[in-house]
Amino acid sequence: MNFSKPVTDIIRERTSRRTYSGQPLEDTMREKIIKLLKNHNLKSPFSEYAGKARFELISVPEFDPNERKKIGTYGLIKGAQDFMVGAVENSKCDREHFGYLMETIILAATDMGLGTCWLGGFFNKSLFSAKINSSSNEIVPAITPIGNYIKRTIKEKAIRKFVKANKRFSWDHLFFNGIMNIPLTPEDCGKYSELLEMVRLGPSASNKQPWRIIKDSKKNMFHFYTVKTNSVYSKFPPLDIGIAVCHFNLTAQELGFNGIWIFDNPQILGTEDLIYKITWNTVL
Ligand SMILES: Cc1cc2nc3c(=O)[nH]c(=O)nc-3n(C[C@H](O)[C@H](O)[C@H](O)COP(=O)(O)O)c2cc1C
Repeated sequence: MNFSKPVTDIIRERTSRRTYSGQPLEDTMREKIIKLLKNHNLKSPFSEYAGKARFELISVPEFDPNERKKIGTYGLIKGAQDFMVGAVENSKCDREHFGYLMETIILAATDMGLGTCWLGGFFNKSLFSAKINSSSNEIVPAITPIGNYIKRTIKEKAIRKFVKANKRFSWDHLFFNGIMNIPLTPEDCGKYSELLEMVRLGPSASNKQPWRIIKDSKKNMFHFYTVKTNSVYSKFPPLDIGIAVCHFNLTAQELGFNGIWIFDNPQILGTEDLIYKITWNTVL
């Protein structure tokens, strides 16, 4: 993905936008987005274990009046006229892969000055699945409004306050050095600290920030985990880890750090309550 500025700036800039101008995307912007979604050849570290993912731009003005009432964003999203909807084939790492790809596209939209908001829970799944003709072999994990945003309403501000959207856990809650009870500091990571900082700033469902990362005590090797959640919520951490890996990987590429992604659970003591996901190791 070619961004117009450092991806670290875009990650810092991105924030969920739930209040839109009510105007559809202008034609040139629409073309740009459609081209991006159609011609994307995006891969993720999860590609090997994931089926095909695809994304489409769906416009509300094309909905019939009855459908417009059933978008299912429950008043959380105001004035959005365009949505990006994605589907991924059922597979081992489907949501992780989807999370990575959708976040890459969201960062590209942010770079274009557009507003977005991950919606994994509050949308009419059957309506949007029908709109992109999803097959029985596909899932539609999330959608996002995409368009020109306006000033946040009081309701939007209240939602943000409720999920503490402006806050993130501190390093000592998320990142560990060698084993689970030794916190990792930016100093321990040296030049790699920016990679973890970009993970920390990422969006997550209900802002739960379920990612945990353990750095090997000797090597610049980072093991990614998610916390275990109850079954109702369990479909979200795989999306969230896709986002975390996306931020880490795009930042590593930008800073010129060579690394490979591997799936090899190091079985670290104290990680019994976590779900191992993936490891990044430097290649010198
Ligand atoms: C996988 C995922 C699902 C989400 N689902 C919803 C949703 O259904 N409704 C909503 O209002 N926000 C949703 N969000 C947005 C989060 O609440 C938001 O990212 C978080 O509070 C942090 O705020 P920020 O995006 O402004 O940094 C979702 C975010 C992610 C990553």
